[in-house]
Amino acid sequence: MRLGVLISGRGSNLQALIDARADPAYPAEIAIVISNRADAAGLARAAAAHIPAATVAHRDRGEFAAEADARLRAAGVELVCLAGFMRLLDTGFVEAWRDHMVNIHPSLLPAFPGLDAQRRALVAGVRFAGCTVHFVRPQVDTGPIIAQAVVPVHPGDDEERLSARILTAEHRLYPLAVRLVAEGRTRIMDGKVEIDGWRAPEFAALNPSERPLDPLVSTPG
Ligand code: GRF
Repeated sequence: MRLGVLISGRGSNLQALIDARADPAYPAEIAIVISNRADAAGLARAAAAHIPAATVAHRDRGEFAAEADARLRAAGVELVCLAGFMRLLDTGFVEAWRDHMVNIHPSLLPAFPGLDAQRRALVAGVRFAGCTVHFVRPQVDTGPIIAQAVVPVHPGDDEERLSARILTAEHRLYPLAVRLVAEGRTRIMDGKVEIDGWRAPEFAALNPSERPLDPLVSTPG
């Protein structure tokens, strides 16, 4: 499956998707990276991996949508992956890619949508935080949930420490969720994602222990 990755900055989740190619059986490849900022560090990651990349300025939401859409389609993209893309997307663009666009968010949605999710989790005093990969709908950080990973909140955590713990989980979760979509194992039913071949032991690995998520990455056999 050909991916188009939209970024605005650091691009560590982009890097996780790039690194997933180390497994020759990984069922997705990045066809194009689009950044709305010319200074996004993620652009250097794309260049280092010899992945075509473009900067599309986001002065106007509609103009960005038209140009990004044209570039994604020209690159033969089948699934758009938002990876730290920090601008609101045009509703028409979101609808055009409905069920073919995913996002990663640093909270256990539907808790803490929007900006500063990790800080707000700390303020709320939650015991567990985490990250979510979901299909994108027009309202920010909503849409059918594909996969989540849980991390504990430790006593004395500050925003930096919690964010780093969540980010480590993000880097495991995003390639896993994209794999599920690319393998055609996800079906949206009544606004929820059903996953073919999702076995109980795999599901248990998502419980709030600190067990690694690696077993989830294997194809059911
Ligand atoms: C991640 O925390 C992601 O969940 C959020 O924005 C951040 C992007 O980080 N949407 P990076 O650019 O992938 O390093």
